[in-house]
Amino acid sequence: MSSRKKIIGTIGQKDLVQMYANYVSKYKAGFFDSLGLGVVQGKRKELIIKMLEGSTEGEPPLELIDCHTSGGVFNLGHHHTEINKALIEGLEAGLDIGDHHLLSEQRALLAKQMADLLPGDICKTMFSVGGGEAIDLAIKLSRAFTKRKKIISANRAYHGVTGFALGACASNFKDPFLWNLPDFQQVPFADIESLRKTIDEETACVLFETIPATGGILIPPEGYFKELREICDDLGVVMIVDEVQTGLGRTGWMWGIFGGVYPSEKIIPDIIVLAKGMSAGVYPLSTTSYKPQFDDIFEDDPFLHISTTGGSELGCYVTRKMLDIVSQPKFLEHVQKRGTQFGEGLIELQEKFSEKIVDVRGRGLMWGIEFEDEFTSLLFTLTMIKNGVWCDYCGNHKVTNKFLPPLIIKAMDVDEVLKRIGVTLKEI
Ligand SMILES: Cc1ncc(COP(=O)(O)O)c(C=O)c1O
Repeated sequence: MSSRKKIIGTIGQKDLVQMYANYVSKYKAGFFDSLGLGVVQGKRKELIIKMLEGSTEGEPPLELIDCHTSGGVFNLGHHHTEINKALIEGLEAGLDIGDHHLLSEQRALLAKQMADLLPGDICKTMFSVGGGEAIDLAIKLSRAFTKRKKIISANRAYHGVTGFALGACASNFKDPFLWNLPDFQQVPFADIESLRKTIDEETACVLFETIPATGGILIPPEGYFKELREICDDLGVVMIVDEVQTGLGRTGWMWGIFGGVYPSEKIIPDIIVLAKGMSAGVYPLSTTSYKPQFDDIFEDDPFLHISTTGGSELGCYVTRKMLDIVSQPKFLEHVQKRGTQFGEGLIELQEKFSEKIVDVRGRGLMWGIEFEDEFTSLLFTLTMIKNGVWCDYCGNHKVTNKFLPPLIIKAMDVDEVLKRIGVTLKEI
């Protein structure tokens, strides 16, 4: 008998949903309760998230293959042995969050490791807790550096819920908060003509995801980012790339912008933002990495931008272990192979179910299936959950369902997911 203290499953599902409604959000609780699928997360291990209880009494809890991974948080699956070991090791060695004003060995070591992996001369890194904050900092850097205000992003974008990041999001995320600010302008993703009409010498930065996830797993045409880089250089505009979902091996390359979308297209932006997977699924951490010239912004006041819990020493130690794993050429090769297997499988299914599926697109282990309408797409999500796969539709392109399985997924598990997609397509 394990002497481990029971922490997961101390409250029954029904009571928990009620407690959630009372103390967290009645709307969120109501939404998930109305699905009737029993989707309160319980134990998880590797690829699997086991639900707390079945949907009705007597039903076994669903065991879902995690193809959602919170957008790439669980790149190494749930409870990767080496990550758990690093967390415990770090704690036992005496690491904690650390004092944010003092210099930190772990932050320095992680930043150096990042500099060695990041494209070109991007070599400085500042730390935050979540992706939104890290995007905020990227925008702040661009404004302080250029002394310009205008920010251009994509009109279906999602970059986080904090101030500057929210401003760069699609209007549905910001309108309820009266945050439609004049300095934030938006263009359709990868539409170079719209961009040319909007960008000018008043523009501080352009901010784009390499492959917009919430926007519908959009693959830019070849040459787009190269042209964007040239336009930015001509006008002195800072190029920020949000690699929160596409970074850290997701595309089968370390960085989406540097070979991950088109192997022959290796673009060096000015700033790269990372989050989600940087946590290795256990300790929140995000980063804003930039070219050395941005450092001069802090000449007069090195404490101009600080984050108390950003860059926790314990988190940095865990992230270093995660980077050791995902940056191995063998690991990236594995992602490429499994990605090809996944993509080819989806294309076969598209041919078989061509009356339902409009398009299949992706890179590495990041794929989208676009359906003919939103109803089919929503039904697909629900039926996939019932059939034991956790994936969902893109928030700002609901006709598209997205798949971001853990990067450690094995060939037989890719086959299993494809089989369940096939079953689901038949059922719907
Ligand atoms: C592309 C992208 N950027 C930024 C963020 C914001 O990250 P966070 O939720 O950690 O603030 C997200 C979150 O989903 C994201 O998908």
